[in-house]
Amino acid sequence: MRMYDIIKKKRDGNPLSTEEIYAVIEGYTKGEIPDYQISALCMAIYFRGMTDEETTALTLAVRDSGDRLDLSNIKGLRVDKHSTGGVGDKTSLVIAPIVAALGLTVAKMSGRGLGHTGGTIDKLEAIKGFRTDLDSEEFERVVNETGIAIVGQSATLAPADKLLYALRDVTATVDSMPLIASSIMGKKLAADDDCIVLDVKTGSGAFMKAVEDSRELARLMVEIGKRAGKRMCALITDMDRPLGCAVGNSLEVIEAIETLKGKGPRDLTELCIALAAHMLTLAEKGSYEECEQMVHRVIDSGEALDAFARMVKAQGGDPAYIYDPSLFSTAQYQKEILSPVDGYISLMNTEQCGVASLLLGAGRNTKEDEIDLEAGIRLLAKTGDRVKKGDVIAFLYTNRQATLEAAEKTLLESITFGDTAPEPRPLIFDIIA
Ligand code: URA
Repeated sequence: MRMYDIIKKKRDGNPLSTEEIYAVIEGYTKGEIPDYQISALCMAIYFRGMTDEETTALTLAVRDSGDRLDLSNIKGLRVDKHSTGGVGDKTSLVIAPIVAALGLTVAKMSGRGLGHTGGTIDKLEAIKGFRTDLDSEEFERVVNETGIAIVGQSATLAPADKLLYALRDVTATVDSMPLIASSIMGKKLAADDDCIVLDVKTGSGAFMKAVEDSRELARLMVEIGKRAGKRMCALITDMDRPLGCAVGNSLEVIEAIETLKGKGPRDLTELCIALAAHMLTLAEKGSYEECEQMVHRVIDSGEALDAFARMVKAQGGDPAYIYDPSLFSTAQYQKEILSPVDGYISLMNTEQCGVASLLLGAGRNTKEDEIDLEAGIRLLAKTGDRVKKGDVIAFLYTNRQATLEAAEKTLLESITFGDTAPEPRPLIFDIIA
């Protein structure tokens, strides 16, 4: 089987066999196929797409490219939630403690920020002492003791995805449906969960900008998960504006804590409740409405916040931060962003908002970049809000003063102001079960 022939076959729009797909992924993981041939194949896949059978084979090849997690010593039904990536998306920090407080087991592997999107692992590291690098014994112990642990993905889990992602990131082939689906589901299937709820983002801050594409991506991932014997469901949710008001690591943890106390922003709270209730429904804890009531109950009683504090303590972090977020240190430099006009915010280019936060130091341009955990943006107004000229619409935070000007320019350019209120967009577009 020559790599040249496989590239040509896909370039000409023909489906690849399972054997060919496995050979490509195995050869690439072992370093036997060079980057330039895989880049060419990714571009051919980008333009020609893949059938469901090909995408499933690619997913399984990614899953089988390294170790698979064995969570058989972990008690209880294991549930996970995975988001396709967005700006201000701190839902994992809220949902995992909620469902753990209701008796489900969350043994979660999460990622770091990618491009303009943030990552749960970076956010958790904003909590003093918090360790995301537990070994497998510690991971099992923490989950069995507290019902919840969130760690970084181990290097041996789906290594093909790490290699492929880094290559896609620099060859303009990230936003390809079969490549995204196999990347996400390959990792999810290598981790040993029973139920998976997918949060497929749609809009200007998502990898899939159009609702129809997001719906198709969700359908594909649900199909792959079901074929692999998992209980699956997907929500298509809005990423045409940042989620909540905080963008940036420690700022997002503080907002997640507020949300666990029942005092979070409306959109974030609504989405977290829906995602958690879907996880509980998949785990057969009751009807959707009953599960929603349970979620409200553990937020109101403080049990969800306590579950978060327990996880933080078990992973080496200081739980005092969870009960008193004023302990989080703030960035040295802050800047108010003023509305330049009277009117409405009619549109936010959410990817650009993410880039503004990245410029402040909250994300990475290259894998090696150090993150400024205190950097980011706090939005006081978002799409649909009426503003007056001179109103403060956002605060920027950074420890790198020189970045403020470029970040301000980028943020202001990302916002379109208009004379009339824009058509409202739903927060949840669809549910695929
Ligand atoms: N998240 C992933 O893990 N992979 C992708 O390809 C896109 C988002």
